[in-house]
Amino acid sequence: MRRRARIAGLGRHLPERVVTNADLARLMDTSDAWIRARTGIRERRWVEGEVGASDLALPAAREALKAAGVRPTELDLIIFATLSPDITFPGSGCLLQAKLGCATVPALDVRNQCTGFLYGLAVADAFIRAGTMSRVLLVGAEVHSTGLDLSDRGRDVSVLFGDGAGAAVLVASEDGSGVLGTRLHADGSEHELLMIEAPASRHHPRIDHAMIDEGRHYPRMDGRGVFRRAVSRVPEVLREVLDAHGLAPADIDLLVPHQANRRINDAVARKLGIPEERVVQNIDRYGNTTAASIPIALSEAVEEGRLRSGDLLAMAAFGAGLTWAASLVRW
Ligand code: ACO
Repeated sequence: MRRRARIAGLGRHLPERVVTNADLARLMDTSDAWIRARTGIRERRWVEGEVGASDLALPAAREALKAAGVRPTELDLIIFATLSPDITFPGSGCLLQAKLGCATVPALDVRNQCTGFLYGLAVADAFIRAGTMSRVLLVGAEVHSTGLDLSDRGRDVSVLFGDGAGAAVLVASEDGSGVLGTRLHADGSEHELLMIEAPASRHHPRIDHAMIDEGRHYPRMDGRGVFRRAVSRVPEVLREVLDAHGLAPADIDLLVPHQANRRINDAVARKLGIPEERVVQNIDRYGNTTAASIPIALSEAVEEGRLRSGDLLAMAAFGAGLTWAASLVRW
C-alpha cells in the first residue's frame, strides 16, 4: 500500500470567555437577529489578557500528541497555520516548539488564512509520502479578538471572527487509511477582497498614526464578493479532488468545511447534494476561527463518533488570498 499521512490524534482549545451577539450589540450598531440570520453565529470565544496564538495552540497540541501517543521530542516537524501570529517574527511555530519543549524539531509557519490547515496538511502529507518524515504536528490557531475594529465602522467583519486552536498529529500509514489527496488553489489578483494592510513592509514606517486613524490595521472585506466566490469555488474544488480519485459527492461520509458562514456551507452542501447530517457545522458557537476552524470542527466530530474506520472524510476551505482547497481522507 502507498505511504501517506494519517491523522493519529486531534486536539482543540477554546478560550473560556464567551462573547454573545448581544455583547457585541452593546459595542457597535448590530443585533443578534442580523448576525444569526446572515451568518448562523450565536456566540464566539475571545481571549483575556496577553494570550497569543501559540498559547492557544499549546493545549490543543498537547491533546493531539497524547491522543496519538507521540512525544513532542519524537516529532519530525511542526507546521503552524495562522494569520494572527503572536509577534511579527519569528513564527508562532517556533514559539510553540519552545513551549512544547522539543528543540530542535523544525517549525514552519503557513500564512494561508482560512485554507491554512489544508495547505499545511498538503505539506505534511508530501513530506510523509516522500519518506523523509514520519510524525508531523499540524496546528491552526488564531487570536482575532485583539485585532478587530469594534466600532460601527468594523461591524461587517468584527461580528464574524472568534479565537481558538485545533491540532492534528499526522503519522505515516501504509494500510490504505490517510490523506488520499489535496487540491490547492490561489488567486492573488483578488487579494484586496479580504486583507489586513498594516503593518506593511512596503510602507515607511510600517504603521503610522494616519494608518491607525484610517483603520488600515484592521481586516477589510468585500463580504458579498467573498461570499459569491466561496459558493462557486468550494463545490468546484471538492469535485476536482473527488474526480481525481474516481469518487463522487455521494461517497462523502462526512464533510468538514471551514466555518466562515453557515449560509456558505449550506449552499455548498446543496450544490453537491450532500445531506445536512453529513456536514459538520459549529459556527454558531465559535464564529470564524480561520485556520483553526477545520481542526476544531474535526476534533469535535471525532469525539461525537461521527467518523468510523473506512469512512471518507472531505474537508474544504475558502478565504483570503484568495485561496481555496479541498482534501480527502480515508478514515
Ligand atoms: N450588523 C448589522 N448590519 C450590518 C452588519 C452588522 N454586523 N454588517 C453589515 N451590515 C449591514 C450593511 O451595512 C448593509 O446595509 P445596507 O443594506 O444599508 O447597505 C446590510 O447589512 C447588508 O450587508 P451585506 O454585506 O450585503 O450583507 P451580506 O448578506 O452579504 O452578509 C456577510 C455579510 C455576513 C459578511 C457575508 O457577506 C459573508 O459571510 N461573506 C463571506 C465571508 C467570508 O467567507 N470570508 C472569508 C473567510 S475569512 C478569511 O479568510 C480570513
